Amino acid sequence: MEKIKIGIIGLGTVGSGVVKTLKNFDNKVQIQKIAVRNINKKRNINGLNENILTDNPYEIVNDKNIDIVVEVMGGINPAFDLLKQAINNGKHIVTANKELLAKHGEELFSIAKEKNIVILYEAAIAGGIPIIMPIKTILQGNKITKIDAILNGTTNYILTKMDEDGASYEKVLKEAQELGYAEADPTGDVECFDAAYKIVTLATISFNKRIKINGIYREGITKISDRDIKFANELGYKIKLIASAKLNDKEQADVRVHPMLVPKEHVLAKINNVTNAVMLSGTPVGEIMFTGPGAGEMPTASSVVGDILALCSEIKKTDYPLPMMRCNHTSEAERIEIGETENRFYISLNTIDTPGSIGVIGTICGNHNINLSDILQKGSNPDGTAEVVVITAICKEKDIKAALKDMKKSQAISKINNLIRVMN
Ligand code: NAP
Ligand code: HSE
Repeated sequence: MEKIKIGIIGLGTVGSGVVKTLKNFDNKVQIQKIAVRNINKKRNINGLNENILTDNPYEIVNDKNIDIVVEVMGGINPAFDLLKQAINNGKHIVTANKELLAKHGEELFSIAKEKNIVILYEAAIAGGIPIIMPIKTILQGNKITKIDAILNGTTNYILTKMDEDGASYEKVLKEAQELGYAEADPTGDVECFDAAYKIVTLATISFNKRIKINGIYREGITKISDRDIKFANELGYKIKLIASAKLNDKEQADVRVHPMLVPKEHVLAKINNVTNAVMLSGTPVGEIMFTGPGAGEMPTASSVVGDILALCSEIKKTDYPLPMMRCNHTSEAERIEIGETENRFYISLNTIDTPGSIGVIGTICGNHNINLSDILQKGSNPDGTAEVVVITAICKEKDIKAALKDMKKSQAISKINNLIRVMN
């Protein structure tokens, strides 16, 4: 059987795992070339043929013998230009690059359609969890209307360690970087750009309507304090970074990423460390959940290699490989503004410790039609303030924001510490 020839761009965390895993398939797949930035870097990969390394990735996209280009380099430039050139040169694509898909997927898929090219990207969403292929194949008979997910391993690892060990944010972030979970610039993880890239692609293929990354509501985990984690626990919740997407009856999409208090008994509250999870609701299937390692060398390699092998089993045997895996949505979803969305909310604030302060909180919330469901105060501080935490009933985002504005102006409240959404 003729081997399929591939070129790999990037030999970092993911690329190394791909090369190691592909050794088991050298009867089917031949790695023709690997592009790296620094050709002199010491690589810890047994049996790596250094003669196939190049520091010019254009050698790969322009190599006439290469059938599949595997892009595990990351970033927009030069990845976007490289993939456009590869597609124009007739090469099928496997990529783990969620940023590129979220920002330029539309253009890439449109050139791919013109050129009869398949782009696979299982590793880009939730690392080692198979989610793209199930949605595009066995779940295609469903109308999916809701996704609640933990899509970033680094932030889930940080929140878990802060909760379980009381470890500091900085220490745990360093560990996540050493373990190869975090992006080169961890801002992408902790400010939740990474999870936003993933949820727009996931929502796009689930709802069969394009969701654009611009304007997606995104809030990072950097403001979550050990106090918030402690209060959440006392009130029966865990704090998780939740990426969610919902499609209402009018086909309008509510897509966002932000930390949430999740009830301890909810299945997502039990997803810890680098594990990711995706809960989908669809008709007729009902609610289903996928979970597994969301980042790291070998789990991510599993998804990349799965995509490579799926292509290998079809190219050179058919003129139209993997039809179900292609991009087939044609319209863009109308979006719901964040102000119009509804949630319960956790508010942590410091009051002036005098009679009636808590009453002021209740009155301000009442003025904005917000009902309170929990309230917690533990004594008072030596500086004459008291830390108070409240949880509201369901209310509109724009109403809670208006209430917060009034609280900031109130003489009874000295500081708003945090506002976090609460999952029902
Ligand atoms: P990484 O460890 O930083 O590796 C990047 C690789 O790309 C390195 O080998 C680097 O070369 C090479 N490279 C960078 N710029 C290049 C250029 N201009 N020309 C040629 N090679 C270049 O990154 P990673 O963690 O493997 O992530 C790769 C991609 O997978 C990203 O899109 C990321 O978002 C995605 N992803 C990562 C994970 C994960 O767990 N890490 C999981 C899912 C998806 P040198 O080795 O010479 O520096
Ligand atoms: N930095 C990403 C994460 C890698 O922590 O989830 C997987 O996409």
